[in-house]
Amino acid sequence: MEPGFTNGNWDLPDLRELLLFYRDAGVDAALADTAFDRFAEPAPQTAPKAGFRDEQPAPAGRPSPKPAGRPAAPVVKPAEMATPDETQVALARELAANAKSLDELRAHLTGFDGCNLKFTAKNLVFADGNPDGPLMVIGEAPGRDEDVKGLPFVGRSGQLLDRMLGAIGHDRRTVYVANVIPWRPPGNRTPTPHETEICRPFIERQIELAAPRVIITLGGPSTKALLKSSEGIMRQRGNWKNFVSLSGTEIPAMPSLHPAYLLRNPAHKRLAWRDFLEVKARLQQLDDQS
Ligand code: URA
Repeated sequence: MEPGFTNGNWDLPDLRELLLFYRDAGVDAALADTAFDRFAEPAPQTAPKAGFRDEQPAPAGRPSPKPAGRPAAPVVKPAEMATPDETQVALARELAANAKSLDELRAHLTGFDGCNLKFTAKNLVFADGNPDGPLMVIGEAPGRDEDVKGLPFVGRSGQLLDRMLGAIGHDRRTVYVANVIPWRPPGNRTPTPHETEICRPFIERQIELAAPRVIITLGGPSTKALLKSSEGIMRQRGNWKNFVSLSGTEIPAMPSLHPAYLLRNPAHKRLAWRDFLEVKARLQQLDDQS
């Protein structure tokens, strides 16, 4: 018998310990209302080949027939089964392109069911700060604190980001903050390339609508997704690139190190400090020209 589990019931203190253990291990999102005992599942069976018997394999996107004796899986509503595919990428592009304002874009994202991450996240994390500010900062994806509050960069990384921005004379009254992915990946896992592709049209349109003078991309994934470069962030940081909007407008972009990385590697804060000073100088130069 498992410790703390007597007569089919958990002792509450042990259950609390178990949940804390799961939370610390990153398992902090419930994916369905009903628990599902995966240990009770029989070993996977090989699907019959097409034409081998009368049964044909289920068409792509439809669940395959349930083998006899298999325990019932939790009921998942059709919308929750949304699988990232080319159709969803195309729909995301269309919705993003049709948004005429940031409010419309947020509304389109709210109604968009094409990304599975939406169904495990608590909130859409659209943006924070001032969309009319000269600087836009873009991270990868929300974490737990951001998911709970529905705002980007409000946890420990966000506090460090605020200090970094403060050091160059900015705060959220002058900076617009967003992420490439607007929903928290469960357990803070890395978003898949397909999830990134689905969300990319929205953040690209968000940048286009906010039209900042300068962008900072924080970390490798955000830099890769928006500046279309495959090199590692250590090579790219500190070097100006251009973000090219869907309509062809170019916005100077500075790749820098992600604050979460800097929290783990404080010795590299001096590199980010250099990048942020570059940004400050560029904004000053643009101000002087206007
Ligand atoms: N990390 C990110 O990339 N974005 C957030 O909003 C928070 C942490």
